[in-house]
Amino acid sequence: MDRNEAVLRELNLYPQWVRRDVPGQSEAINNVGAIHESPAQTGAMNTDRAIDETTSHSTRLSKNDNQAAGYHELPLHWPELKQQVRDCTACKLRAGCTQTVFGVGDEQAEWLFVGEGPGADEDAQGEPFVGQAGKLLDNMLLAIKLRRGRNVYIANIVKCRPPNNRAPAADEIATCLPYLQRQIALIKPKLIVALGKTAATALLGRDATLASLRGTLHDFNGIPLVVTYHPAYLLRSPMEKAKAWQDLCFAVQTVHQK
Ligand code: URA
Repeated sequence: MDRNEAVLRELNLYPQWVRRDVPGQSEAINNVGAIHESPAQTGAMNTDRAIDETTSHSTRLSKNDNQAAGYHELPLHWPELKQQVRDCTACKLRAGCTQTVFGVGDEQAEWLFVGEGPGADEDAQGEPFVGQAGKLLDNMLLAIKLRRGRNVYIANIVKCRPPNNRAPAADEIATCLPYLQRQIALIKPKLIVALGKTAATALLGRDATLASLRGTLHDFNGIPLVVTYHPAYLLRSPMEKAKAWQDLCFAVQTVHQK
């Protein structure tokens, strides 16, 4: 079994599934770029937060909240921004976590993947998506011929682990989001992939079901944004992996059209 087949098997996508109504989809995937190394895989226990994509809890963030949160006052250089995040105590999450988790990857990446917030593994290691959900995310990236750190940046909506694996609250998101906005302004990705409802609704500034947000090209400050399931949700609902694959194919086509 070759590496591609192994990845597709893990995603429940083998034999390779191609949408009939999207001509050129497999060509698009084939053109993403070569992979020369396997992703870092961790043997960590499953301490990821349980993400429920079907609930309709709202972050109730508006675009105005985002603006009001001080995005334009943050430094527009990586070292100062990283230092500000390290020093941040602006919300109650920092008191309960081990360290801030800034984000990781190619700072000039075309692809930005945004999750919800650090879980226990990420809190311990200081890097996003290093637990079981991260392993699945790495395989999702491989399925479209991407890999962590190469033309890919990975970040979260909040930089500090919410206690008891709960979702971040609206005020915590509003306080933290300016940091991500600044990261996005620095990276200037070609595409943002919002992983899960929390990331999607925080970035889009409106509440909606994940199902209604999938399959549409959204806009974040002029950058195309697509929405897909959070890997932690996919671990618990593997039958949805085929839909995530559709979303990834849509994402690849979007990047190629830019
Ligand atoms: N879940 C997230 O949303 N982000 C992480 O970094 C890890 C798990």
